[in-house]
Amino acid sequence: MSKKLGVLIVGGGWVSSQHVAAFKNNPHTEIVGICGVPLCNAQKCATTAGLDVPCFDNYEQALKMPGVDIVSIGTPQEFHAQQTIDAARAGKHILIEKPVAQTPSELRAMQEAVHAARVKTVAGFVLRWNPLFQHIKKLSAEGAFGALYRVETDYQSYQSDWWGGYTTGRTKERGGSAMLVAGCHAVDALRWFAGAGEFEAAIPVEVFAYSGGKRLGKTEQYNPYTGDWHDGLPLEYPGLEMILVKFSNGVLGRVCVDFECIQSYAFPVRIFGDRGTVKDHQILCPQKSKEWQTLTDIGPESSDVKHHPFQAEINHLVDCILTDNESHCNLDDAVLTHNIIFAAQTCYRTGMPVQL
Ligand SMILES: NC(=O)c1ccc[n+]([C@@H]2O[C@H](COP(=O)([O-])OP(=O)(O)OC[C@H]3O[C@@H](n4cnc5c(N)ncnc54)[C@H](O)[C@@H]3O)[C@@H](O)[C@H]2O)c1
Repeated sequence: MSKKLGVLIVGGGWVSSQHVAAFKNNPHTEIVGICGVPLCNAQKCATTAGLDVPCFDNYEQALKMPGVDIVSIGTPQEFHAQQTIDAARAGKHILIEKPVAQTPSELRAMQEAVHAARVKTVAGFVLRWNPLFQHIKKLSAEGAFGALYRVETDYQSYQSDWWGGYTTGRTKERGGSAMLVAGCHAVDALRWFAGAGEFEAAIPVEVFAYSGGKRLGKTEQYNPYTGDWHDGLPLEYPGLEMILVKFSNGVLGRVCVDFECIQSYAFPVRIFGDRGTVKDHQILCPQKSKEWQTLTDIGPESSDVKHHPFQAEINHLVDCILTDNESHCNLDDAVLTHNIIFAAQTCYRTGMPVQL
């Protein structure tokens, strides 16, 4: 291929630092511009990465720059929907960070724009490329655990002002809910592991959920990394959500987000099939061995973006563009993950299960 795909980085903060590193490293892409508000954040992102490229604080102008093929959206979540719609209308392929939208109507508008433009999308559910997850998915698809019937995933992390995104992420208006702002990774993992194929996420058909916890509105907060308790801004939504999901293939799922647990980040995974069991790195497949085996792959041990497999995710987006293939993690698929989160919010209001 002669010409590289041009990439416009949008955001320029924490997650964008990893988008930048991965696009720089991909042999088929080159970063041609960075857009950030305020402009100094885009400029800082360029300087840190050693990139001499134009910086913008006007997204419309940045999209008009010649040579942009891919837009990599790493802005705060309330901007993702409109920025996706604008990028699609400009004919660009798009990496959309999670959560991709704040409401079901935003999801519909994004799908309409992306379908009309026929551009490729990948949503930021980067754990699909985690080495342990990939190994488990491969074993599962080969039948190592038999027919799956139950999956459980958790996002456990005491989110307080140690987290750079806490000031906005803790609010109902901008963060939305614990499940939307961070737990969406666990919802996506639930669908991913409930799907039978190696590159297949299960389709949710019914949802029931409770929210709870003790932190809502309280100013006292904990820092799991220093062990310190202090006063700070409160969570505006419940710190605990538990969702039950029925999938179209008959698998039952339970996903939980917990911003109240007195511990740092953990991402437990449980998978049960009629021939085997997975508990994080431990697998039991009695047809092969009566003992639990340990998988040694890197798991979801950290929430630090430096630990996440953005290179593999971004290589996948580039492959999809070059080979004209749809991603298993495209916008349409991400909508199914977000539908579970929004259905749970309906349950909290009505106390009734929601059919999807
Ligand atoms: N996939 C993952 O594992 C992962 C990890 C971290 C963050 N994220 C997601 O990435 C997004 C950004 O998070 P972050 O931690 O990088 O935040 P951040 O605050 O570090 O960076 C956001 C950047 O966006 C810029 N910005 C704000 N408004 C803008 C606008 N209207 N147009 C252009 N730029 C604008 C800011 O200047 C800032 O540099 C969030 O949605 C977050 O959930 C995903």
